[in-house]
Amino acid sequence: MTSKLLPGFKLGNHHIDVPLVLAPMAGITDLPFRKICKRFGVGLMVTEMIASRAVDMGRERTERMAELGGDEHPASIQIAGSDPQFVTEAARWAVDHGADFVDINMGCPVKKICKQTAGSAMLRDEPLVARVLEAVVKAVDVPVTLKIRTGWDDASKNVENIARIAEASGIRMLTVHGRTRAQMFHGHASWEDIGLAKAAVSIPVIGNGDIVDGESAREMIRISNCDGVMVGRAVQGNPWVLGEVYAALTGQPRPPAPTAAERWAIVIEHMNNLAEHHGTQCASKLARKHVLWYSKGLRGSADFRGHFQVMTDWQQMLDIAERYFLSLDEEDHSELAYAA
Ligand SMILES: Cc1cc2nc3c(=O)[nH]c(=O)nc-3n(C[C@H](O)[C@H](O)[C@H](O)COP(=O)(O)O)c2cc1C
Repeated sequence: MTSKLLPGFKLGNHHIDVPLVLAPMAGITDLPFRKICKRFGVGLMVTEMIASRAVDMGRERTERMAELGGDEHPASIQIAGSDPQFVTEAARWAVDHGADFVDINMGCPVKKICKQTAGSAMLRDEPLVARVLEAVVKAVDVPVTLKIRTGWDDASKNVENIARIAEASGIRMLTVHGRTRAQMFHGHASWEDIGLAKAAVSIPVIGNGDIVDGESAREMIRISNCDGVMVGRAVQGNPWVLGEVYAALTGQPRPPAPTAAERWAIVIEHMNNLAEHHGTQCASKLARKHVLWYSKGLRGSADFRGHFQVMTDWQQMLDIAERYFLSLDEEDHSELAYAA
């Protein structure tokens, strides 16, 4: 299937036919969840952010974060850091771990990261941006991509400058989250600002921020003229939204909301994936947030949440989730899937 709304683009040896990208989200878009999302039409996957200084420490957790599933290619491993030496080492490590592309994070707003002048803090130091990007592009054979915000704050927005620096440094695709660092996740993403980046360069630009359905994806494309769309928070508890955006891109009708049985099938598959990948102890912590998201807006969800949240025994969590999701009839699910 190709996209009717967007032509797709070439990235190294790959052609991204349907430029629908799953946003990297730390603690959320791990392999267990990406496996779920892939089937809804994601054309390009990105792992959660991995700190470049973590890669040579040999932690099992870092290895798990970089693990790619056999069927999720083409996929990026995302790295963050500000020291060109550490970032290039991390990029080589990512390629050794099977990354088709290496994505560099210059958008993370978290204080701990920004204090080390990494993530979105890099945007305040344009020469440093160029140094890091050039070093990584030189160090690996695969395409290097970049994810940014529109600047540090309103007074210092520099999305066009950074886009030009990226292109000149050999970056092959740019993702723009249309917020400044100062906005964190507040206010609205500026799709106009994404358009400024798009107009400044000829590499593919992916628009990101506040896509919640097919219609908003179409609107972002209209306003920004972006070459692809990235969906983040809207997929939490609602991977079906990806199918809706996919349908919008490929000119198909909006898919029906999942039935109760389809919803439960995804929940149980996700829980099983979590247990297999992380072990049941870690899985029970992660399942708490995912399963609560899946139940958001459904009948009796507050009551269910109250019970589920305090459980620690994995088998009990599976049992209560099954009882809850299978107790919902079809009516409870219609339309709600897209409201999550
Ligand atoms: C919990 C959470 C974790 C995130 N982790 C990352 C990350 O690891 N790397 C990154 O580039 N962006 C990260 N982001 C930002 C998202 O990729 C995306 O840019 C942002 O959520 C805006 O898109 P949305 O409005 O579709 O959610 C994260 C966002 C959230 C909410």
